[in-house]
Amino acid sequence: MSQIGVGVIGVGIFGENHARLYAQDPRTDLVGLCDLDLSRAESLAAELRVPFCTDSAGALLDREDIQAVSIATPDFAHTELAMMAIERGKHVLCEKPLATEAGEARRVARAADEAGVTLMVDFHNRFNPPYLQAKAQIDEGSIGKPQLIHMRLSDTLYVPTGMLSWAGKSSVAWFLGSHCIDLVRWLTGAEVVRAYSKAGTGVLTRRGVDTPDFFVSTLELSDGTVAVVENCWILGDSAPAVVEFRAQIVGSEGHINVGVFPHQVVTVSSGDEHRALDVLAVQSSHGRLTGFAIESIRHFVDVLSGEAELLVTGQDGVEATRVVCAIEESVRVGSPVELTDAWP
Ligand SMILES: NC(=O)c1ccc[n+]([C@@H]2O[C@H](COP(=O)([O-])OP(=O)(O)OC[C@H]3O[C@@H](n4cnc5c(N)ncnc54)[C@H](O)[C@@H]3O)[C@@H](O)[C@H]2O)c1
Repeated sequence: MSQIGVGVIGVGIFGENHARLYAQDPRTDLVGLCDLDLSRAESLAAELRVPFCTDSAGALLDREDIQAVSIATPDFAHTELAMMAIERGKHVLCEKPLATEAGEARRVARAADEAGVTLMVDFHNRFNPPYLQAKAQIDEGSIGKPQLIHMRLSDTLYVPTGMLSWAGKSSVAWFLGSHCIDLVRWLTGAEVVRAYSKAGTGVLTRRGVDTPDFFVSTLELSDGTVAVVENCWILGDSAPAVVEFRAQIVGSEGHINVGVFPHQVVTVSSGDEHRALDVLAVQSSHGRLTGFAIESIRHFVDVLSGEAELLVTGQDGVEATRVVCAIEESVRVGSPVELTDAWP
């Protein structure tokens, strides 16, 4: 079988994972990298021996030897690039969120349907082992019907103040909340119909990052489940890991606890530093990339190769975007927002 020509647009922290997987997977030929910061793209291209490098997405997308692209630009910069790719008949793996406006998300999903190309949104927690187990237990009926979900996914201050240069143009609701919304929808198989959210501000704005510190959102689902989702961007920087992820799913016949992510099974203590290593998301097993964040990208290649059915669709991206928009609107107006078909 001939290889699938692929490109990556945005090769920052996360786009690099896309590029590395495509460079390793024998089914893909990594033809080109694109980043507004050309030097960033060039140094990765040199390491991975990628022949084409550009700071123009149009130039990458005009290449006929590219059939599929990953888009890993900042949260607010996905729509235009996804539309450009789809208009040129390319398959798209888009980082989450699909868009930061519901109308834009719908526009991208509709365009992909009409063009007959694959559009996947990279909600990689559907490949995260603890949540795969939770989903399997729910589907087996171990806890009866889910009634209440409490999910907390938060980062230390370092993420919005040091890691992401663009945090002030996004929010923790987009960056982390969208993952939780996707998980809640996937675990229950139900849609969010009502959202009530409260945000806190002050810590980040005082540090010059104009975005809320946290969101606490109560989501009512179409099957009666209630989910409380907490996303905070101001955990203390002395925490051993930058991410903290935990959940409790209470059903009619029992409950499931998902312990703190990344399970902190491997810690390194050296001098004043105590770090927990992430053994689940991305790691190398004797040179082969593994981890759930890699499995998600590999799934896109599986789908393009005809080896799997798409697990996270453009419509999933639309729904997550609609719910985050409802969360933001609820914070703005101070009351619950109904997610009718017409909203927003
Ligand atoms: N960092 C993470 O842990 C993580 C995890 C999962 C998903 N994501 C998602 O991945 C996306 C990227 O996040 P990141 O952390 O890699 O950000 P980043 O800032 O490290 O990288 C983004 C890159 O995109 C480039 N870029 C911006 N606009 C562009 C354009 N129009 N054309 C070409 N390049 C452009 C920037 O120069 C930058 O190098 C976001 O949507 C984020 O939510 C990030």
